[in-house]
Amino acid sequence: MSSTLVTGISELVTNDELLEGADHSEHLGRLSDAAVIVQDGFIAWVGLGAHAPQADERRDIGGRAVIPGFVDSHSHLVFAGDRASEFVARMTGIPYDGGGIASSVNATRAASDDQLSALVGARVAEMRAQGTTTVEIKGGYGLSVKDEVRSLRIASEFTSETTFLGAHVVPPEFAHRRSEYVELVTGEMLTACAPHARWIDVFCEPHIPNAFTEEEARVVLSAGRDAGLALRVHGNQLGHGPGVRLAVELGAASVDHCTFLSESDIEALAAASGTTVATLLPAVEFSTRSPYPNARRLLGAGVSIALASDCNPGTSYSSSIPFAIALAVREMGLTPAEALRAATLGSAKSLRRNDIGVIRPGYRADLTVLDAPSYLHLSYRAGVPIARALNLS
Ligand code: NIG
Ligand code: FE
Repeated sequence: MSSTLVTGISELVTNDELLEGADHSEHLGRLSDAAVIVQDGFIAWVGLGAHAPQADERRDIGGRAVIPGFVDSHSHLVFAGDRASEFVARMTGIPYDGGGIASSVNATRAASDDQLSALVGARVAEMRAQGTTTVEIKGGYGLSVKDEVRSLRIASEFTSETTFLGAHVVPPEFAHRRSEYVELVTGEMLTACAPHARWIDVFCEPHIPNAFTEEEARVVLSAGRDAGLALRVHGNQLGHGPGVRLAVELGAASVDHCTFLSESDIEALAAASGTTVATLLPAVEFSTRSPYPNARRLLGAGVSIALASDCNPGTSYSSSIPFAIALAVREMGLTPAEALRAATLGSAKSLRRNDIGVIRPGYRADLTVLDAPSYLHLSYRAGVPIARALNLS
């Protein structure tokens, strides 16, 4: 049992709305000249540096800001190869249609377990070096029983937030046998994958032929729920559609992308704000030249929102939450405070976690330090690597 007193915190953002003596403007629970005591991986004390009790060790971080570690609640890190040329083509105006997923599936199937594990490990380290302390990782580039199981096994080496995404797209070998593929995903593949996953997800997108319709997605999600998995949905990415409605209907924890939302989608999300979070992925809009959804409008309507990277080889090969925050502020109408809360507390809520996203005694000691005096610099100094997870051991 050893404790560490972290001092020299110029600005501490706690997200704790109950913290006494804190500045509660914009719900950040901010303290200046603060200190934190960490014991055995958990927060033991939070307050002013001048009032800090003794601890076994002391760590002065030299007048930097500290924020809750970023919670990246949507990523697809288990893949081999990349699709840089697809990105370049999109920048010249070629639209994204999901067709490139097949090439990532081929590269992923061809990789050895060790190669895949090393790739995922490097990506998780890259995230941590940019301030992310919790990451959700989906499969979805295996699309066979064997390759989805090993994707989840490898993801489990790095996180407990693993997501079965056998229903990412219909793989080419099933192109003319869609219903057989849905049977495989909801049968043998689900049975084999469920022990390695906490969540199930589906790419519900009627606008492209290889993703899943509303009815198929309902079947997939219901089977996942029956197998004990909790629900997430990729929805409303490429056009208006049924994803949001379905996610709300089935009580999914999160519906992700939400690029194209109708008024009734926003109303449904607002009514379900205690259950279903709208996870926004601005690096996808950036990398696919899509319109950015109006996050300000969502917050105004009472929708719960999260921000995540969607790190994947197709629509967003960015592992950077600071980049997502900067885009959310510049392009989606969020204040820097709202964007930070969405990438921490909002994402924690989308993962139904109440041990992360807040710096308060009893929570996990997931702290991110900024080479800056204030959290405002996350978007103000866009592109500058100022955030990193604080390593205390
Ligand atoms: O979240 N939309 C579906 N899946 C991923 C992209 C997959 C890919 O293009 O490789 C996403 O954007
Ligand atoms: Fe995704």
